[in-house]
Amino acid sequence: MLIKLSNISKIYKMGLTEIRAIDGVSLEVEAGEYIAIMGPSGSGKSTIMNLIGCLDTPTSGSYILNDMEVAHLDDDRLAEIRNKEIGFVFQTFNLLSRANALQNVELPLIYSNISAKERRRQTLQALEVVGLRDRVRHKPSELSGGERQRVAIARALVNNCSLLLADEPTGNLDSKMGEEIMQVFDQLHEQENTIIVVTHEEHIARHTKRVIRLLDGKIISDERKG
Ligand SMILES: Nc1ncnc2c1ncn2[C@@H]1O[C@H](COP(=O)(O)OP(=O)(O)O)[C@@H](O)[C@H]1O
Ligand SMILES: [Mg+2]
Repeated sequence: MLIKLSNISKIYKMGLTEIRAIDGVSLEVEAGEYIAIMGPSGSGKSTIMNLIGCLDTPTSGSYILNDMEVAHLDDDRLAEIRNKEIGFVFQTFNLLSRANALQNVELPLIYSNISAKERRRQTLQALEVVGLRDRVRHKPSELSGGERQRVAIARALVNNCSLLLADEPTGNLDSKMGEEIMQVFDQLHEQENTIIVVTHEEHIARHTKRVIRLLDGKIISDERKG
C-alpha cells in the first residue's frame, strides 16, 4: 500500500469557530492507481491533497506513506519526504517566468547530488515524456497554457516521485487543452505512475480508474471502474 489514511481530520480554528475541513476520512491507495477526487467547492479537496502531499499535517489520525507514519512529522522532515516522494501540479502552473522550460524542469534536481550531465539527461527525458522536446528554450510566456502545464508536469516527474498530485490541473485551460493534459496523465498512468487528480469536472474524472467524492469533509462515495 502506498497511502493509508486512517480516521484523518483537519480542523481549522478561525477565532471561536472550528472548520472541520476533513472529517474522519480513511482511505487506501495502491501504487499505480489513477484517481479523481471530486466534490463541490469547499468540500475539502485541496485540504486532503495538501495532507496527502505532506504540505500540511492533520489535526488527528494516522497517515502512512510508503510504510512510514508521516502524520506528525515536523516541517523539515515533511519537506524531505515531499522532495523525495511527491510531484505537484497546480491549477496556476507555478512556473518561474524568467526561466525557460529546461531550467524550470531541472529545478527540483539542483539540490540533489547528481552530476550536471545526468541532471540534463533526466530533464530532457521528462520534457520528452510530456511532448515538449522541441520547446525546451521557451519561457512560460512563449508557451500556450497547455504547454505551460506540461512543463509543470515534467517538473513534477523529473525526480521519479512515487506519487503525482494535481489540484484542478485543467482549471485554467480551455476544454481542448484540458483534454490534452489528461492525455498526458493517461500516458503516465500507463507507465505505472500513481496519480491523484482533483477536479470538479466529470469529463476530466472520466479519464481515471477510481472516483472519490467528498462532501463536507467526508468521503460520500468511492467507485472503481472496470
Ligand atoms: N487555511 C485555512 N484556514 C481556514 N479555513 C480553511 C483553510 N483552508 C480551507 N479552509 C476551509 O476548509 C474547507 C475546505 O476547503 P478546501 O479544502 O479548500 O475545499 P475545496 O478545495 O474542495 O474547495 C472550506 O470550508 C474552507 O473555507
Ligand atoms: Mg480547492
